[in-house]
Amino acid sequence: MEKVNFPISNAFCPQSLFLYGTYKENGEPNYGLFCWATYCWNEGFRFVACIGEDKLTRDRIRAAGIFSASLVSERLLPLADYCGNNAGYTVDKSRTIASEKGSVLEVPIPELSPVSFELRVDKTLHLDERGSSEIYICDIVNVRADERLADESIPLEARLHRAAPVVTTTETYYSIAPTPLGRWGQWGTSEKLGK
Ligand SMILES: Cc1cc2nc3c(=O)[nH]c(=O)nc-3n(C[C@H](O)[C@H](O)[C@H](O)COP(=O)(O)O)c2cc1C
Repeated sequence: MEKVNFPISNAFCPQSLFLYGTYKENGEPNYGLFCWATYCWNEGFRFVACIGEDKLTRDRIRAAGIFSASLVSERLLPLADYCGNNAGYTVDKSRTIASEKGSVLEVPIPELSPVSFELRVDKTLHLDERGSSEIYICDIVNVRADERLADESIPLEARLHRAAPVVTTTETYYSIAPTPLGRWGQWGTSEKLGK
């Protein structure tokens, strides 16, 4: 294989999409769409979110220290796309997505979301002097999910099909076809590597 140097981009690294839900000052829900998100492990499974530039979602996270992150499914995508392309500062998105309250934290959760994390910000990393971008390391206080996704008698592959998560790269949304390739530790065995 010939290799070339390549412009810096995440073109070949699809990301999961989440709707971040917060309550506005007047108590109405607001949602933004986010992909700069991942997980980390530190005395448990934690959620990591990066928000750049001023936006209502960030104001509300800063004010309350809590928010929800809901996996965007194919069914939720049209609403999620709307929330990602209309700023909460100028558009009232409070009635765009039917919501319920988190079961532990005061955060809005879309009724249609297959899986939602109820999050409390533990640490904030400021990435520049201007306060433009910041990263939130969050404790996952609770997970709300479609009860059919919690049924461990159904193979995870089938439940993943049901959740139908949407991923994104280079300003395009993609579905995933969850075909299991094998469990961790099954692929690097000496026999498979011919050693
Ligand atoms: C596909 C997609 C992914 C996005 N990911 C992020 C992100 O990870 N971080 C971020 O700061 N903004 C991201 N945005 C922009 C916000 O969704 C957008 O600014 C939105 O208006 C935020 O909602 P709010 O104004 O109600 O806070 C993304 C937008 C789209 C369309």
